[in-house]
Amino acid sequence: MENSKLLEVDHLSVHFHTERGEVTAVQDISFHVEKGEILGVVGESGCGKSVTSQAVLRLFDEKDLVRYDGEIRLQGRDLLKNPMSEMNHIRGNEISMIFQDPSSSINPLYTIGYQVAEALILHQNVSKKEAMERAVELLRLTGIPSPEKRIHEYPHEISGGMKQRVMIAIALACEPKLLIADEPTTALDVTIQAQILDLMLKLNKKMDMGIMMITHDLGVVAEICTRVVVMYLGQIVEEADVESLFNRPLHPYTRGLMKSIPHMEGEKKEELYVISGSVPSLNNVPKGCRFTPRCPYADSTCHSKNPELLADNQTQKVRCWHYKDISEEEGELVYGNR
Ligand SMILES: Nc1ncnc2c1ncn2[C@@H]1O[C@H](COP(=O)(O)OP(=O)(O)O)[C@@H](O)[C@H]1O
Ligand SMILES: [Mg+2]
Repeated sequence: MENSKLLEVDHLSVHFHTERGEVTAVQDISFHVEKGEILGVVGESGCGKSVTSQAVLRLFDEKDLVRYDGEIRLQGRDLLKNPMSEMNHIRGNEISMIFQDPSSSINPLYTIGYQVAEALILHQNVSKKEAMERAVELLRLTGIPSPEKRIHEYPHEISGGMKQRVMIAIALACEPKLLIADEPTTALDVTIQAQILDLMLKLNKKMDMGIMMITHDLGVVAEICTRVVVMYLGQIVEEADVESLFNRPLHPYTRGLMKSIPHMEGEKKEELYVISGSVPSLNNVPKGCRFTPRCPYADSTCHSKNPELLADNQTQKVRCWHYKDISEEEGELVYGNR
């Protein structure tokens, strides 16, 4: 039987050497992305989303002192064992990445047409003329109007939303199997954000491309993801298909995230729930469950031992000693407006 798993991250830990000693930014996480699926990775700022995605492409190896445990397999091949020359081939060819800030992947000195074409010339054996023609088509695909004219423009001549589209066009140039999108719409206004998400959904269907969608915005998750992993302080605390996550969140942290989504009830605006406290630093990780300092249900067990991430049912895993009691006590949260 063919393995439908495109990316498999298995017991991955990412350790950095810092002046204050070694810190573990990502601790023993496992998840996978199926072919053609959109997996959401959510959690507050600093929980390790970007570190996870950059580890997949080994982007730290070049500039940071980093140490990995575990495996990251792309269609069965362990990327952590790859030589850098092989990783350079994989980047932009089999796996592409888009970031919140397009300026990190767009060069101000070249026209946008040249930059999309360059990605094709670099990785695929096409002539300059052919690459330019395909660049026009790719830019059209991302919804840039009159791309045949815009290819001659420089990045400073176009808006932020347009730059984001150019970055997506560059990322898609080689039809990657996996697209990693790290908060791709966070810096954009709401209408453009909706258009970009719509575009990603279309491309995912059209090219059967797996997407790892990193976001702190649950609205984005509801919009396009099929499955979700929730991260907290470097660990996965819950994993679920998107319906279960919204209809029956199990971890107190996920429940808190759900309660803090703004939604209108009739005319009256509800008061927003805020998860109390803040994420501890990596130099000061709680001994037991990492969420204890902020958890209203924490008891002595939670303070002394970190629970494992265990399956509650076929589609949902959770890392909490007391999630069953909490659901009983608080009742099931219902978010009908998904
Ligand atoms: N190169 C690095 N060296 C040391 N610590 C790092 C490095 N990169 C990220 N971190 C730390 O790892 C943690 C996770 O960061 P990050 O993955 O960027 O979070 P986010 O979920 O907001 O994307 C943070 O505490 C951050 O300070
Ligand atoms: Mg980040």
